[in-house]
Amino acid sequence: MTEEKMEKKLHNKRALVTGASRGIGKEIANTLARHGADVVVNYNTSHEDASEIATSVELAGKETWVYPADIRSFQEVEEMKKSIEDNFGTIDILVNNAGINIDKFFTKMEKNDWETVLSVNLDGVFNCSKVFLDDLREAEGGRIINISSVVGQRGNLGQVNYASSKAGMIGFTKALARELVRDEVTVNAVAPGFIATDMVMNIPEKVQESIKKKIPMGRFGETKEVAEAVAFLASPSASYITGEVLKVNGGFYI
Ligand SMILES: NC(=O)c1ccc[n+]([C@@H]2O[C@H](COP(=O)([O-])OP(=O)(O)OC[C@H]3O[C@@H](n4cnc5c(N)ncnc54)[C@H](OP(=O)(O)O)[C@@H]3O)[C@@H](O)[C@H]2O)c1
Repeated sequence: MTEEKMEKKLHNKRALVTGASRGIGKEIANTLARHGADVVVNYNTSHEDASEIATSVELAGKETWVYPADIRSFQEVEEMKKSIEDNFGTIDILVNNAGINIDKFFTKMEKNDWETVLSVNLDGVFNCSKVFLDDLREAEGGRIINISSVVGQRGNLGQVNYASSKAGMIGFTKALARELVRDEVTVNAVAPGFIATDMVMNIPEKVQESIKKKIPMGRFGETKEVAEAVAFLASPSASYITGEVLKVNGGFYI
């Protein structure tokens, strides 16, 4: 299919991508815009990075709105919704991408490390899905796409908090998918393997090399490989898919 035809796939759609200032979220925002969607760029602190993404969405000929909100806070997410509604419109596609990790062996993990990771990765998904639910139900073929992780599927050393949050997202996806079928809203997850973003490049080099050896494709994934999976799930081509967890992991977990 030509690029021009692909662009039409998300024509007339409006998407909100949480944590779109960097890494995978940035690529998702740009990719959805390339495929024809107008895109709201949410972030927490990286104001300049978020403004740059907005500029590239505009260069793709699409509309954008940039809004800082800490997704841990239900109130901030509600304020974001009000601002989007007043300045941009309702949304058809919600990509719950924002996430953090605080990696430590369980013996060293403090209650606060647990709560902080769970509050962004899981409470954030609850808050955004809840606040934007009416928009998605009113959309023609609303979409929720949750960015989980291979770590939520197979576990990983030093990531009990992160793995729990990402496994929780999968349960959330499957349960909500069942509830929203009648509203024609699909709810799916993408479970990336190790992708070359700050989150992974901050791992000590020696550990990175040992991880790569365990990946059948022998390399980290690229952000665009995740973003294209999200664009597919957001598109009408995926209209009969709900409650699915799409692995994008180079064969790391099958
Ligand atoms: N990289 C990987 O290998 C990998 C693998 C599997 C899954 N994932 C998942 O993919 C998602 C993106 O990961 P990434 O590697 O792209 O991460 P990243 O480069 O560290 O970027 C994280 C993004 O989340 C935003 N964010 C963090 N806390 C937030 C909060 N409380 N409220 C709103 N936004 C917040 C950040 O905004 P600010 O810049 O403003 O702080 C940033 O835009 C995460 O959910 C992650 O768990 C990543």
